[in-house]
Amino acid sequence: MTSSCRYYPDPPMEKDDVRGKAKLLAKEDTDEEDDQVLRQLKRTQANVTVWELLLTSEKHRTAPTKALSVLKVFTEKTLEEIAKVVLIEDGGHITFSNHDVPAEGRNHSRALFATVEVRGWKVPCVMIDDGSAINVCPSKILPKLEISMSELTGSDLVIRAYDDSKRNMIGVFKTMVKVGLVETKVEFTVLDIPMTFSLLLVTGANKGIGFSLVKRLAESGLTVILTARDVERGYKAIEQLRNEHGDGDDLHLHFYRLDVSDPASIKAFVSQFEKDFGVLDILVNNAAVSFNEIHENSVEHAETVVKTNFYGPKLLIEALLPMFRQSTSACSRILNITSRLGSINKMRNPKMKEMLLSENLSEEQIVGMVNLFIENVKKGTWKSQGWPEIWTDYAVSKLALNVYSRVLATRYKDCGLRVNCFCPGFTQTSMTRGKGTHTAADAAEVGARLALLPPHQLPTGKFYIGFSPGIVSKL
Ligand SMILES: NC(=O)c1ccc[n+]([C@@H]2O[C@H](COP(=O)([O-])OP(=O)(O)OC[C@H]3O[C@@H](n4cnc5c(N)ncnc54)[C@H](OP(=O)(O)O)[C@@H]3O)[C@@H](O)[C@H]2O)c1
Repeated sequence: MTSSCRYYPDPPMEKDDVRGKAKLLAKEDTDEEDDQVLRQLKRTQANVTVWELLLTSEKHRTAPTKALSVLKVFTEKTLEEIAKVVLIEDGGHITFSNHDVPAEGRNHSRALFATVEVRGWKVPCVMIDDGSAINVCPSKILPKLEISMSELTGSDLVIRAYDDSKRNMIGVFKTMVKVGLVETKVEFTVLDIPMTFSLLLVTGANKGIGFSLVKRLAESGLTVILTARDVERGYKAIEQLRNEHGDGDDLHLHFYRLDVSDPASIKAFVSQFEKDFGVLDILVNNAAVSFNEIHENSVEHAETVVKTNFYGPKLLIEALLPMFRQSTSACSRILNITSRLGSINKMRNPKMKEMLLSENLSEEQIVGMVNLFIENVKKGTWKSQGWPEIWTDYAVSKLALNVYSRVLATRYKDCGLRVNCFCPGFTQTSMTRGKGTHTAADAAEVGARLALLPPHQLPTGKFYIGFSPGIVSKL
């Protein structure tokens, strides 16, 4: 198994199997045999024991013989201790192949992360150490893993960070950790340290801006949950991302089906996601529909538009709220991809505009506004009621999402959850039939920067407009 959890099953062993060999080979046969052994070894991904290798390969015998002849050992050591001097570890290794080397080659200092399973929970972005460091577990993770304080044992270890500041150690525990198919016991030191964000979820990410966002975020090393309403399109997107990345195995991507317009789909997704991950750091509500051509304004699909673009993100946020990690230094965040077509100034009905601008605007009033719009559409009176003039149903759905984001931002401002909106501008995607001033990748670059703003620079209740991340207004 490789670091990226790709599993290579053993190919069938050839007749001349190294496992069966126990006799030492005559010198004249060894060069040819060595080649054979190495060829077999390459195919079996090192699935032979060191002893088998030494027995069959002259070259491999020579190297450790040389090493052992210089290794010093005191005579009073027990046999067990001598074995420990010779062996580096007692098994459970993660092995690497050229396949694991990132695009920039071997000369890099990027940390190796893997998604592991601990007590039935998938823990993303676990940093694998090389044996010279301790395994750190932030104390906030303990309750999630259902590890009680009584399971922790003490330790005399004094831990200091790179800046020499002392870290408050809470205790030590050992647990089984599953990496791919391999399960091994690992000791963790529990520290009272903040967790930085690592888990992102993007809706409607099989194409367009959502797809480019996932690509950009996953390529920066984050664990990204790509969701799409269609399973085939979702998996195809994952495959495309892996192919485009060259060595796609070091992208931490997970796919889930999620149709945001269907409350049953939201419920099923959240229930599975909670079982698998149980936490979320960043939610990007990107999925949306519009059925209008650029210069058209039909409200034929108004109900679907409102269900997808407003109620979808709203229901998803409500269902995911318990999973947002609460932390004072590493805040969780929601970035709603909206549109300037949904700005309050597009609303021409003065009473409605006044209500939307009010500091005391409530969730009920927003839902009331959306229901009134649908009622007007059904009665055929929507044209005379002062609703936005361009792409009316889409504009109302995005307007509702904008002001709902403001309500949320106020409600959760002291709870470590920041809520902002981003209009990516006129972008070349299928929503605009390929027209636009820039590509989805360009828009995603700005979106990703906003999603990942450091906590001290991240506001809440703001509307980032257009292509420049500098242009920001109140929601
Ligand atoms: N393009 C622009 O000029 C522009 C401007 C301002 C704002 N935006 C916003 O940017 C976001 C991305 O739009 P885009 O331009 O990338 O459009 P897009 O290419 O049409 O992509 C929309 C994505 O949403 C998905 N989706 C639609 N309905 C869904 C549902 N019920 N459940 C789950 N996923 C669903 C689509 O999946 P399917 O493939 O299954 O349809 C697709 O993956 C949207 O919020 C949009 O309003 C776009």
